[in-house]
Amino acid sequence: MLYLLLWCINIVIASINGYTDKQNVIEAFELNTKRYRSDWKDLDTRPLPEWYDRAKIGIFLHWGVFSVPSFGSEWFWSNWVGGNQKYIDFMNKNYPPGFTYQEFAPMFKAEFFDPDEWATLFKRAGAKYIVLTSKHHEGFTLFPSKRSFSWNSVEVGPKRDLVGDIAQSVRKQGMKFGVYHSLYEWYNPIYLEDKRSLFLNKSYPSTKLWPDIKQLVNDYQPSVLWSDGDWEAFDAYWNSTDLLAWLYNDSPVKDEIVVNDRWGIGIPCHHGDFYNCADRYNPGTLQPHKWENAFTVDSKSWGYRRNMNLSEILSDKQLLKEIVSTVSCGGNALINVGPTKEGTIAPIFQERLLALGDWLQVNGEAIYDTSPWIRQNDSLNNDVWYTCTKQQYDGFNPTSKPKATDVTAIFATFFEWPKDDVLSIRDVVIYLHRHNTLRVTLLGSDRTLKWKIASGVAYIELPKESVKSNVGWSLKFCNI
Ligand SMILES: *[C@@H]1O[C@H](CO)[C@@H](O)[C@H](O)[C@H]1NC(C)=O
Ligand SMILES: *[C@@H]1O[C@H](CO)[C@@H](O)[C@H](O)[C@H]1NC(C)=O
Ligand SMILES: *[C@@H]1O[C@H](CO)[C@@H](O)[C@H](O)[C@H]1NC(C)=O
Ligand SMILES: *[C@@H]1O[C@H](CO)[C@@H](O)[C@H](O)[C@H]1NC(C)=O
Repeated sequence: MLYLLLWCINIVIASINGYTDKQNVIEAFELNTKRYRSDWKDLDTRPLPEWYDRAKIGIFLHWGVFSVPSFGSEWFWSNWVGGNQKYIDFMNKNYPPGFTYQEFAPMFKAEFFDPDEWATLFKRAGAKYIVLTSKHHEGFTLFPSKRSFSWNSVEVGPKRDLVGDIAQSVRKQGMKFGVYHSLYEWYNPIYLEDKRSLFLNKSYPSTKLWPDIKQLVNDYQPSVLWSDGDWEAFDAYWNSTDLLAWLYNDSPVKDEIVVNDRWGIGIPCHHGDFYNCADRYNPGTLQPHKWENAFTVDSKSWGYRRNMNLSEILSDKQLLKEIVSTVSCGGNALINVGPTKEGTIAPIFQERLLALGDWLQVNGEAIYDTSPWIRQNDSLNNDVWYTCTKQQYDGFNPTSKPKATDVTAIFATFFEWPKDDVLSIRDVVIYLHRHNTLRVTLLGSDRTLKWKIASGVAYIELPKESVKSNVGWSLKFCNI
């Protein structure tokens, strides 16, 4: 009965959407009402929601109590308790004897925090989605978790629902909002008890983890659930497939949400809507599954560190190369900055993000809404990276190489301006041969560029007048 009703609703929806023939109605029916079983094989059949593949660029925020000492990294508590001398010395030198990590929490005041200002910055940086640490391994929640008594941002520190505040501001500016969430908590006694039972006991997932994730998903309806802290136990302990089946079948974000791959020992790089594999993963070759390169602007830490210096921060060009090579190989770039305990984004991070945004204003066409082309980097000039646009999006295979007839334009991005103003590349030659009405332009300039082919190499005459950038440029090859 329920099925029949759903089927009718789907026919109505399908005809509203312009579906007329029966096959399309049936496909629409299957897509919208498929119920996933709680096993990886079935969960893996879910098509990737299109928004995520189109978005390409997100911003990652590591914020929490670790932002108070802001020394070393966001692993401060574990490094200190774990006996790392650098952290022990730092505590002995700067804090009274007996000082506990919990005493940092009231110092997390976020007195200058303005989520609208943050969202404006991220928007100008060209980000399409934001992922915030709703809870890192320290267990402190940036939302009023009902199971994190006195260890959440509403009861202590900022006295605000930071997840809610940021979600609202980010969405007001048309970006998607997502949450990072750590499965394990270093010092949660319930988790540690389960661990002592070699994870035969599952008190922590049933009394803390699941209810918290459901609260997060139901209350904030995130578009991304970025899981972490999975590596001590198998997915059977975390009940990961059950959780994902609920997310995909019954949650309020079932059509929209994407999840990564950190769901237990052996799962990363094997299951999930997109793969992170490792931190800062950037394989440099086309990947058969959608993936994401999560990396930090401060090369040494995800959380804010007062002891960082300029040479440890990615330059504009390093940041851009990371993004361009990632997108060419089928990945999204999730660029991390750590906000301060005061609730500000350090000016050096603002500068990097705004420089990226300026570049994307001119060259975004080579990044957003693109797909990998048949070649990723040029075989002659290895640091020239390709993307293309195509007619069809394939949610089951978003990173596959396109059919020649499906390609509508090719983009080639390069980072060194050739001394004689002529760029030599090889892999576009076939494409140039195939289309004699092809127009070649440099993004940001209206001029049609001259090109020739000699001995299997394409020589593109770049416009001499300076095009606004000193970090990278994109050529567009488009049939007219
Ligand atoms: C599992 O938890 C229960 C209740 O807390 C306890 O009685 C039991 O000893 C635990 N089992 C193991 C294997 O630790
Ligand atoms: C895990 O999933 C099973 C099967 O649905 C369920 O019975 C169990 O209660 C779940 N365990 C936890 C810890 O939530
Ligand atoms: C910056 O940090 C690096 C280590 O990451 C160190 O080698 C370098 O000397 C530092 N530079 C300055 C100016 O402090
Ligand atoms: C780029 O292309 C060359 C030659 O095709 C290849 O050897 C190289 O590994 C590729 N990847 C990177 C990251 O340069």
